[in-house]
Amino acid sequence: MGIETSCDETAVAIVRNGREILSNVVASQIESHKRFGGVVPEIASRHHVEEITIVLEEAMKQANVTFEDIDAIAVTEGPGLVGALLIGVNAAKAVAFAHNIPLVGVHHIAGHIYANRLIEELEFPLLSLVVSGGHTELVYMEEHGTFQVIGETRDDAAGEAYDKVARTLNLPYPGGPHIDRLAHEGEPTISLPRAWLEEDSYDFSFSGLKSAVINTLHNAEQRGEIIEPENLAASFQASVIDVLVTKTVKAAKEYKVKEVLLAGGVAANKGLRYALENRFSDMEGVKLIIPPLSLCTDNAAMIAAIGSIMYEKGKRSTLALNANPGLDIEK
Ligand code: KG4
Ligand code: ZN
Repeated sequence: MGIETSCDETAVAIVRNGREILSNVVASQIESHKRFGGVVPEIASRHHVEEITIVLEEAMKQANVTFEDIDAIAVTEGPGLVGALLIGVNAAKAVAFAHNIPLVGVHHIAGHIYANRLIEELEFPLLSLVVSGGHTELVYMEEHGTFQVIGETRDDAAGEAYDKVARTLNLPYPGGPHIDRLAHEGEPTISLPRAWLEEDSYDFSFSGLKSAVINTLHNAEQRGEIIEPENLAASFQASVIDVLVTKTVKAAKEYKVKEVLLAGGVAANKGLRYALENRFSDMEGVKLIIPPLSLCTDNAAMIAAIGSIMYEKGKRSTLALNANPGLDIEK
């Protein structure tokens, strides 16, 4: 059983042998947060409290299992919003204690990466491009359950930049899918910066790009000019994808990986999926895995998938398990 409550999705899944999804129930709170233009932590926690038992029962019903069938419970221990994480952690501890089931606390981003194992068995060494609302990272893996961050964002995460740019264009939260849609209706006619950083760095930076988009809009407004939002969205998306794909290709070559995985909410981006497929289609010896949309955004099947690996590796959490908003994937 996987349990996920790190942000604004209450999710429980039942997965067989870490790979076969028996059920994957997600209760999204997006509608409640929309009018605030972002996730309100206190509201998120309250929704998780209301939803967790309902979602858990539904996941078990859909999978047609009882507590006796559950070998282990994996729960997102961090990173995320502390009040939100606490609901999942405490639900997992309650079930583990009441039914004497082993408990395994796992890392949310490791979960996003392992969403790919629900599609295909992984081959190592591999490289994962993690792009979510809170993280943008290139993670190198030599074997199951070990993670080395070779590059990360120095400021905004890719999803965060999408959401902020969307807000400037008066699009609803979360803005990523709206920008993606608009971008396909426009052309990248506006020149925007790409933050390559130092020659040998796999780090990212998106705050300069975000500011450039906002300045372009404001300057045009002041001059009384009209900027087509489609073209601005297309130009922004082109810049994000250019940097993400170029650095991923470079790292895949340098680290001589067998596979490249895409992970996280922004992995749902059509432009990014297409660009990666295009670049890796003719790269010999490197296989690209991209999860279906339902496994890109937050869900609990991915938490069960990494939980199963950590369980096999002997990891057990005690009932002292706590939410850890700053949990480090390498540790
Ligand atoms: O992984 P996720 O569900 O939550 C976190 O762990 O952060 O990612 C959510 C992020 C949001 O910023 C959302 O705007 C972005 O993923 N997103 C997208 C798309 N779909 C979701 N960004 C760009 N294009 C999309 N199609
Ligand atoms: Zn996530």
